[in-house]
Amino acid sequence: MDRIRIVGGNKLNGQIPISGAKNAALPLMIASLLTPDRLTLKNVPNLADVNLLARILRNHGLDHQVDGKRPGPAAHIGETYHFDARDIVDTTAPYELVSRMRASFWVLGPLLARMHQARVSLPGGCAIGTRPVDLHLMGLKRLGAEIDIDAGYVVAKAPGGLIGNRITFPKVSVGATHNVLMAATLAKGETVIENAAREPEIGDVADCLNKMGARIEGIGSSTLHVQGVDRLEGAVHSVLPDRIETGTFAMAVAATGGDVELVGARRDLLAAAFDVIEQAGAEVSNTATGIRVRRNGGGIQPVSVETQPFPGFPTDLQAQLMGLMATADGTSVIRETIFENRFMHVQELARFGADIQLNGDTATVRGVKELRGAPVMATDLRASVSLAIGALVADGETMINRVYHLDRGFEKLEEKLSNCGAEIERVSDE
Ligand code: EPZ
Repeated sequence: MDRIRIVGGNKLNGQIPISGAKNAALPLMIASLLTPDRLTLKNVPNLADVNLLARILRNHGLDHQVDGKRPGPAAHIGETYHFDARDIVDTTAPYELVSRMRASFWVLGPLLARMHQARVSLPGGCAIGTRPVDLHLMGLKRLGAEIDIDAGYVVAKAPGGLIGNRITFPKVSVGATHNVLMAATLAKGETVIENAAREPEIGDVADCLNKMGARIEGIGSSTLHVQGVDRLEGAVHSVLPDRIETGTFAMAVAATGGDVELVGARRDLLAAAFDVIEQAGAEVSNTATGIRVRRNGGGIQPVSVETQPFPGFPTDLQAQLMGLMATADGTSVIRETIFENRFMHVQELARFGADIQLNGDTATVRGVKELRGAPVMATDLRASVSLAIGALVADGETMINRVYHLDRGFEKLEEKLSNCGAEIERVSDE
């Protein structure tokens, strides 16, 4: 099993290319099930989750092809994938696959919409919380689906096809919004989704669906209007830049000090987090090709933050912020309001000497003068990268174990950081 070795203490200087967003690429790939024509996605990040989802989709009968990478100045731009779901040969998504990646549960809506039936394993809980799917099921039922739970599977049918309706989510859910939005594109008549998630990845998927012939209005707002169509067509779409990768590297630079341009990054996708990074003492400015983050001299200022659905501060950056605040000049308060158990990194950051007290959903981080390298364990994707941030500022050597969590969502992490002066390498046991 691979590990990552980091020797901390170096500032980061240079350029980091930002990859296509994992959390847009995954639902965009799933959207290819809605059409018998070819969907071409550009700027797809090369990640374990993308490869696993491609495998899951192949199980339903989808063909996919990847264009070879072109060397040269655009080499950092992600790969181009072509998806063809001409014939859906299987409408079952088995436990063995869905349990390995929650987002694969989102095939439910598209399969129901196109094939009028689907049998998809319930995903189960995970390290960050129980993560129920009641909102997904409620939304699809409102579109006329008959849903039973049988032996751990959601068995859904819509014999005459789905029918548009008004759906008001009692709570904001990214996944339920994706699932219901994709399903509604092929439902008969109008669907109105109220209290929809507004995450930019939803907008990216909605833009792509419209290119495929869907009729979605209200993109970017919390009320989506969808006029159902009989058929969706092929399209070409480029995945938007990964705002969580952007915020992660911005926080890494704020933590170590230095001067880095995040090439391809967009501030509008991450305004709340950049405000926090500025409060912490880093300078953030737009460049012609991305965003520049600098912190030269001056300490890290403590902040008080609570995670919120977009446009608030994202839960997917909460762990990284804690890594940054570990060496702040004062006490920070970080409240997690989205997932009930997203604090697995706290114990591991403590191994570096971080002083973090947990009380329910709130972490109080008392900044310490310095962290010291230590062996640590990655527990989930974003927690793992908070350990990398801690390790980059820590004195001495850190070994991060179980880095397969990192490979799920960060493309070429070691290369991107070592190109900016970090001492970081992957250690393979074989
Ligand atoms: C998406 O997960 C992301 N995953 C997560 O990123 C992200 O943390 C999360 O949204 C919140 O922004 C992908 O995009 C692939 P939710 P999702 O449904 O859709 C509760 C990462 O690290 N809820 O918005 O599963 C739920 O338990 C991952 O890249 C219900 O109660 O999240 C949570 O408390 C991790 N019932 C809250 O809503 C439901 O039916 C928000 O979850 C669905 C959700």
